[in-house]
Amino acid sequence: MTVSSAPGKVYLFGEHAVVYGEPAVPCAVERRATVSVSLRDDDHVRVRAEDLSLNGFTVEYSGSTGDRPDVDVPAPLVEAAMGYIDAAVEQARDAADAPDAGFDITVESDIPLGAGLGSSAAVVVAGIDAATRELGVELTPREIADRAYRAEHEVQDGQASRADTFCSAMGGAVRVEGDDCRTIDAPPLPFVIGFDGGAGDTGALVAGVRDLREQYDFAANTVSTIGDIVRRGEELLADADPDADPDEAFLDELGGFMNFNHGLLEALGVSSRSLDSMVWAAREAGAYGAKLTGAGGGGCIVALDPTPETQTGLRFTPGCEDAFRAELATEGVRVEEPPERTAPQNTDDTPEESA
Ligand code: PMV
Repeated sequence: MTVSSAPGKVYLFGEHAVVYGEPAVPCAVERRATVSVSLRDDDHVRVRAEDLSLNGFTVEYSGSTGDRPDVDVPAPLVEAAMGYIDAAVEQARDAADAPDAGFDITVESDIPLGAGLGSSAAVVVAGIDAATRELGVELTPREIADRAYRAEHEVQDGQASRADTFCSAMGGAVRVEGDDCRTIDAPPLPFVIGFDGGAGDTGALVAGVRDLREQYDFAANTVSTIGDIVRRGEELLADADPDADPDEAFLDELGGFMNFNHGLLEALGVSSRSLDSMVWAAREAGAYGAKLTGAGGGGCIVALDPTPETQTGLRFTPGCEDAFRAELATEGVRVEEPPERTAPQNTDDTPEESA
């Protein structure tokens, strides 16, 4: 058995605008998806999902991964979860030149699904890493990022940017502009996340921004202004000491940029009442800045506050279901120790028997 994990992320700046070639700065956070993979001796794929915001379920299917499993949970949720796992399996088979490899896969995730924290990217990244290692192939984090992007791109009908998958594979803060993906230095940022318990429809939200941008120059200008904020934010990050807690002046300016970015996302129609009320609750609690993260429409906000005030304020905010602190995850995809009840991990390329 091989176990890999990968972090979720928040967008410090630049979601939506990144789809049109502007830069974005996502930051990996310490909420991880963990994928355990055991090679089977047939070509079946059996998936057990522990907490993808679903009740746990197990599905088994064979041969073509196009065969849809018959399980007792809502079809769109199964399809969303299974689509990403199928795509990760296909990438792993391709990377290892093992088109008929079958796997037992367990997915555990403490990243809310579809809420702007990059849950699907983390599952795909960890899944490709674990499955390729199980087949005796070790990809670099950049190679995993690239394959994970291709997997997401396919599942999301070409709507994905490289931001989520690159950030999850590499960890830390990253900068993505089209195909140009780099890691950047960032100080330890005091992120607080508020979650409304919901999820946005990424495809519809991206399409909405695309339509506005095509119809109105001022909407197109709004998108490019988000790019300007990202560039100023990057300059600020570049001047900060990555090894020291950031000072108040830095947090104040960075938080101001986040507020500005949120206002422009709101203007583009991708916020929601619950996201706005969490953003305002965070600001009123003393956060340096707050904005929605990810596609919007529902899901999560991210605020900057080194004190406990924002988290407390969010907990008492109607519409906020969960509030938690999320450290910057400096490590991206990584191998984890398999659980103790399993046999010791093989050090050669021979797969152990699947259960
Ligand atoms: O909600 P998420 O975490 O899938 O982020 C979507 C971010 C967008 O910029 C709206 C789309 C993309 O693929 O970059």
